[in-house]
Amino acid sequence: MKKIPIIMDCDPGHDDAIALILACSREELDLKAVTVVAGNQTLDKTLGNAKKILSFIGKHPPVAAGAAKPMFRELQTAPSVHGESGLDGPSIPEPDFREERMHAVDLLREIITGSPEPVTLVPTGPLTNIGILFTTYPEVKKNIQRISLMGGGIETGNWTSAAEFNIFVDPEAADIVFRSGIPIIMSSLDVTHRAFFMQEDIDRLRNSGGRVSVLVAELMDFYYNYYKKRGSTGAPLHDPCAVAYLVKPELFITKPYHIDIECAGKFTAGMTLADRRPWSDAEFNVTANIDLDREGFVNMIIKACESYN
Ligand code: BDR
Ligand code: CA
Repeated sequence: MKKIPIIMDCDPGHDDAIALILACSREELDLKAVTVVAGNQTLDKTLGNAKKILSFIGKHPPVAAGAAKPMFRELQTAPSVHGESGLDGPSIPEPDFREERMHAVDLLREIITGSPEPVTLVPTGPLTNIGILFTTYPEVKKNIQRISLMGGGIETGNWTSAAEFNIFVDPEAADIVFRSGIPIIMSSLDVTHRAFFMQEDIDRLRNSGGRVSVLVAELMDFYYNYYKKRGSTGAPLHDPCAVAYLVKPELFITKPYHIDIECAGKFTAGMTLADRRPWSDAEFNVTANIDLDREGFVNMIIKACESYN
């Protein structure tokens, strides 16, 4: 089977951690590297979390630390969702390997330019590393197949009423990415708010008894609590959608859009403004995932966890 070469750029984060577990479990994907960015927590914490999760599942792709803050703004983190560590809940053993001694942007450049096949980027945090990459080394764009990212929202935001967290944290970087000309598959809140992991799914994982399944169940206990307190009947598994789409696109319903990033709005900074005018002649730059087969998606996550048992 011809594998899809991917690089994950993430800010773990509970759902980033599950996205990593999913990506490493699938034979359709060839995970070339993991680059880390500040977002859900500060860079030292997101880097440590990425290494801890990879160590726990016995995978050791090259990992590199990237931007510690957005391109032009101060960093905003999300301890209310992910806790002080960025991965609160279970106690996870310390990592058993070190990160590369190079910046994430340089690792991205090295792998993309050296790859015989065009690479797919999978960003699941603020787009700072990718924005810096495209600004510093624009030539890499020609060897990028597509970008499957988690971010944005067409109908709603989450961090503000207009903006989703990843785009809100670094709108300028998102603007660079969305105007890059590279095909973008956007797993926005429109689909991730349907990618619910329910209490019975968490229990299924826990009862299956494997060490990775139990770890993910314990991560979900913490993460789901945040959403439960807000009246949600399930925990949205945002970031794994960006990976799941690459493995089984048939699980998703998509719609093309022209999307601009709002960088200046007083109330709307970080908004992914989709042109919904039927008569618009603005060119589509995004394929948005707008719905999914939830059961198929949940089964994929559970199977991924069990594959390590
Ligand atoms: C996004 O923000 C983070 O909290 C999650 O990891 C996800 O990437 C959802 O808005
Ligand atoms: Ca994330």
